[in-house]
Amino acid sequence: MISPKIQDLLNAQLNREYSSSYAYLAMAAYVESESLVGFAHWLRVQHREELEHALKFYDYINAQNGRVTLAAIDQPRAEYKSVFEVFQKVLEHEKYITRSVNEIYGAAEAEKDYATKTFLSWFVSEQVEEESEAQLMVDKLAMIGDSKGSLLYLDKEAKKRE
Ligand code: FEO
Repeated sequence: MISPKIQDLLNAQLNREYSSSYAYLAMAAYVESESLVGFAHWLRVQHREELEHALKFYDYINAQNGRVTLAAIDQPRAEYKSVFEVFQKVLEHEKYITRSVNEIYGAAEAEKDYATKTFLSWFVSEQVEEESEAQLMVDKLAMIGDSKGSLLYLDKEAKKRE
């Protein structure tokens, strides 16, 4: 059983995961329009992962006999200056998601809601990975600067993401 407050916070996070998913798909569409199919693949994998995250919240709320409520998903930004800017935004977004997961974790802790804390532990670890992967991309893209050859090499590498 979860409190109405925790249920609201979990539903809000479910919506954030869908919004993340949609935002990453829009980023994929932008880089794909620039013929960077490897980065587009990377972002589509991210898009899919966010859908899986959203469904974890959906399943958990239901498992606790709560009520899932779906809210509108924000229209994502469509245009960027560069693939570098895209990944800077990915990193910024993941940091925002980390903060929101931590806030719910804190609320669950305050209520002694151990089940929700345990459920969220997976997301706490996942966010370390998400931020680290995004940071790595930002660092590599910063390193290559304006080199088109290096950008194409990184694009090829990004295609290998599973
Ligand atoms: Fe579901 Fe990228 O956090």
